[in-house]
Amino acid sequence: MKIAVLPGDGIGPEIVGQTLRVLDALRADGLPIEIEQAPLGGAAYDQYGQPYPEATQTLVRAADAVLLGAVGGPQYDQLDRPLRPERGLLAIRKDLGLFANLRPAVLYPELADASTLKPEVVSGLNIMIVRELTGDIYFGQPRGISVNELGEREAYNTMRYSESEVRRIAHVAFAIAMKRNRRLCSVDKANVLETTEFWKEIMIDVARDYPEVTLSHMYVDNAAMQLVRNPKQFDVMVTGNIFGDILSDEASMLTGSIGMLPSASLDENNKGLYEPSHGSAPDIAGKDLANPLATILSAAMMMRYTFNREDAATRIENAVKRVLAEGYRTGDIAQAGSRRVSCSGMGDAVVAAL
Ligand code: IPM
Ligand code: MG
Repeated sequence: MKIAVLPGDGIGPEIVGQTLRVLDALRADGLPIEIEQAPLGGAAYDQYGQPYPEATQTLVRAADAVLLGAVGGPQYDQLDRPLRPERGLLAIRKDLGLFANLRPAVLYPELADASTLKPEVVSGLNIMIVRELTGDIYFGQPRGISVNELGEREAYNTMRYSESEVRRIAHVAFAIAMKRNRRLCSVDKANVLETTEFWKEIMIDVARDYPEVTLSHMYVDNAAMQLVRNPKQFDVMVTGNIFGDILSDEASMLTGSIGMLPSASLDENNKGLYEPSHGSAPDIAGKDLANPLATILSAAMMMRYTFNREDAATRIENAVKRVLAEGYRTGDIAQAGSRRVSCSGMGDAVVAAL
């Protein structure tokens, strides 16, 4: 298990640090885990002048899986666009062909009160968002800011998807639905955008290979509303890059804290990059306050999807459930009467539970 570890920026090094303790514990129990670290994002810019430098490229290409903390910080916001941390993240996704982004939104029963929605609306919530990650308006050409024929400045991005790009993410989504409750909702804006009308058409075509899955379609604006109105109607949702970016943040808050949610980004062969769904939280960086559970749960997803070790995945997930049941809480999920812990304190609790 060759794992490239990219701590990144902000709270990245802290949450990754606690996750490395979890991996160390698994190694001590016999898993053949090998770890090598490299910088990505702002940390890489500081060291090499680039957000995704060659040393990092070489390491991640040779690895079986990548564990990432988070990238970005206000000190990098004024850099030229190609040098910004976010570009490093987009570049590694594209370079490794990580087109399938799985973002589960699961509500742990102990955290039902942490959600801003009523407990009856969210209790038992378990949604999997499948976001296409290497196409769409994020990567479409042409893009830029220029001066038009009238001498006025204008800006443009291009929403585009090829048929093969839509087909492969459709197959991933249907296969996941087959392992769950066999309901798949494809999110589009087919009433306005040709790109997503095309997306919908291909979803319907691929559905013929999965007769046991019930496919439905929803416009993205309605999906945003339904997620807060009645989120439990969803099992698996599949959508393009930009809609998936937005809806997955929204879905994460149903569960109380984005600090709880892991993610996996997979290529055609289940090589994957695993990262928390949240960002680098510069405001609390270096203070030992961050919630490391999303990153620890990302390591569980790594065991499941890349290494096929359901046993190790469940073991990590059970340890997390146990610390929640025991009342350990970082600030983002703290409740009256809970045992308030730091980032490293949460790491201690998870390692003990393991
Ligand atoms: C995410 C983030 C990234 C994205 C940013 C940091 C480029 O918001 O992983 O959801 O938009 O994909
Ligand atoms: Mg996002």
